[in-house]
Amino acid sequence: MTEKDFIPQPYSAVVEEGEVTWQSPSNIALVKYWGKLENQLPANPSISFTLNNCRTTTTLKFQKREKSDSGFDFELLFEGEKKDSFRPKIQEFLKRVEPFLPFLKDYKFRIETSNSFPHSSGIASSASGMSALSLCLMSLEKQLDPEMKEDYFIRKSSFLARLGSGSACRSIEGDLVVWGMHNSIYQSSDLYGVPYRGEVHDNFKNYRDTILLVDKGEKQVSSTLGHGLMNDHPYAETRFRQAHDNLDKLKKIFRSGDLEGFIKIVESEALTLHAMMMTSQPYFLLMKPNTLAIINKVFEFRQETGLHLCFTLDAGANVHLLYPDSEKEETLMFIKTDLSKYCQGEQYIEDHVGNGAKKLA
Ligand code: PMV
Repeated sequence: MTEKDFIPQPYSAVVEEGEVTWQSPSNIALVKYWGKLENQLPANPSISFTLNNCRTTTTLKFQKREKSDSGFDFELLFEGEKKDSFRPKIQEFLKRVEPFLPFLKDYKFRIETSNSFPHSSGIASSASGMSALSLCLMSLEKQLDPEMKEDYFIRKSSFLARLGSGSACRSIEGDLVVWGMHNSIYQSSDLYGVPYRGEVHDNFKNYRDTILLVDKGEKQVSSTLGHGLMNDHPYAETRFRQAHDNLDKLKKIFRSGDLEGFIKIVESEALTLHAMMMTSQPYFLLMKPNTLAIINKVFEFRQETGLHLCFTLDAGANVHLLYPDSEKEETLMFIKTDLSKYCQGEQYIEDHVGNGAKKLA
């Protein structure tokens, strides 16, 4: 599919008003997306586990306007309160998706959104938030075009979410999603995420992700800025090639169930992501002392127990701990007794792999 396939034909139905609610999860990348081209196209392919418990719920209420003037008309409520600081991001998103959703200026919108994870936990809500909003807008488009196929609905939701925040395109479906063209991954595309269709060993079913909240503050460097620094990065080409190779390796690992191989790729991806940040110009550092303390504890735990706990990081100081469902008891005990002390307010979030977004009645 190309971008043009997402420009709709004139709509067949008339919709005066209504509302729709979607709940969409966050995701955690195993092979990281870091670096982008114009229009939010990724510089390399990535793959993620869709999460289950970390979710955004968004209700979109819409009402046809008497006449559509030049601007978008929307109200924004976050956890029940007006949130003007989010407006510029939504305004920019609507502008980007308008060529693909030509009805946007015909309606007055009220967007009500809330997260299942604690406010300002340092967990990026852009993936769950942008995917939930994209799904709501697609539900309206489906009312305008009742013949729309399910497949197109899903693809286009992911395509729109990508225009909001790259990694958001991996939050529509589960349980493993690939975004970005890769030679040996069926139907992979730079335009949207697709579910990974290869064979996946039972070892990876219901994989756990416990998120340790090391630093709940705002990020000092936005991911937009970080991606931009990959443009003149001295190691960029090597890194992008490595992401392709790591996906090839993961394909084999998913098939065989090789947990040690999985750990090697996932931890290396996390450290490479941060190494790219540390070697950008200007350079920056998002890990905190407790991030490193936790990583060292994970190494020790593995050495002592032979269990398969590993870590990954996104663009921040929090640590995602990944481990098989079959090892959850011992691992959770270790997290509680040994690792929670490195978290702000001893807070962590227990999550696991999920199946993607849900429409609520
Ligand atoms: O979607 P963005 O622009 O916030 O970028 C997210 C980048 C990482 O979380 C660091 C990696 C990834 O693939 O999710």
